[in-house]
Amino acid sequence: MKSTDTALKEEKKVKEYKPRYLNKRTVPEEPFDTEALLEVQHLSKTYGSLKVLDNISEKIYKGEKIAVIGPSGSGKSTFLRCLNALEDPTDGYVFFDGHNLCDLKVDINVQRQSMGMVFQNFNLFNNMTVLKNITFAPVHVKKKQLSALKWLNFKTKFLNLFKKKDCKAPLMPIETSVKKIKAEAEENAIRLLKRIGLEEKAGVYPSTLSGGQRQRIAIVRALAMNPKVMLFDEPTSALDPEMVGEVLSLIKELADEGMTMVIVTHEMGFAREIATRVLFMDGGNVVEQGPPEKIFTSPENDRLKDFLSKVL
Ligand SMILES: Nc1ncnc2c1ncn2[C@@H]1O[C@H](COP(=O)(O)OP(=O)(O)O)[C@@H](O)[C@H]1O
Ligand SMILES: [Mg+2]
Repeated sequence: MKSTDTALKEEKKVKEYKPRYLNKRTVPEEPFDTEALLEVQHLSKTYGSLKVLDNISEKIYKGEKIAVIGPSGSGKSTFLRCLNALEDPTDGYVFFDGHNLCDLKVDINVQRQSMGMVFQNFNLFNNMTVLKNITFAPVHVKKKQLSALKWLNFKTKFLNLFKKKDCKAPLMPIETSVKKIKAEAEENAIRLLKRIGLEEKAGVYPSTLSGGQRQRIAIVRALAMNPKVMLFDEPTSALDPEMVGEVLSLIKELADEGMTMVIVTHEMGFAREIATRVLFMDGGNVVEQGPPEKIFTSPENDRLKDFLSKVL
């Protein structure tokens, strides 16, 4: 029999161990919509006794531009963070591009590579140059893929030693190298910097840039991964008013190019201009949603009416 001490230690270990999804539900009760790029089913999130998201079910299709509006504390950021699994839902499911992000067998890091996230406070790496900020993730991911491929070939070669000549397994073709990966990522980064007119800033550190420039770089950094969806959490809230325009026009450009996006914003004019659908959140729920003309000109929900009377 185990001593009480060991038993206590083990119990503590179990409590400290925090799996990605505490309840480890891998099989949803309802099938997900294969047409939707993002889907949440019965999404709930609680912090202690505070229920921040309360049973949200939503689908987001390719090409949609979703504006999420609502009072402060209504759960908008938590909702966005659940979409790319930066937050563990307490209950419910998140599906992205046909993958159940609540399934422990799904590699969340691989899925997250296809979701660009832009935060209020830029979140650039201050110890890296602008160029390195943009190339870091793509280079890291491609280098990892390259080493996986090399390792696979090494194993195949080793096993081939024990096989007859005509039974040897073929090796995977490797057409790239670390040097090539870096050069390609840099070329792509320069192209993206040119797009926002900041190519001359490639070698400088983020601290020397204005907020508007930093946020535009944060956006192109996300674009460098060729995301399938962009998630913006109040991308202009931390900016001086004169810099809001340059960031919004870049987001609008992306929207016009057909990028699927979910944007939490307090810029109602902007939401109205670019969104294909507006979600109004209050108290952890989407209480009303619809096309922008409907939401902004003939809202039905009283809380939405009240909210709009304060912000418009
Ligand atoms: N990590 C956390 N721990 C505890 N409470 C949190 C945490 N994150 C958010 N909350 C709470 O959840 C509620 C919703 O937060 P949030 O999603 O940031 O709202 P919004 O973005 O709409 O302002 C707030 O009351 C906030 O205090
Ligand atoms: Mg927020």
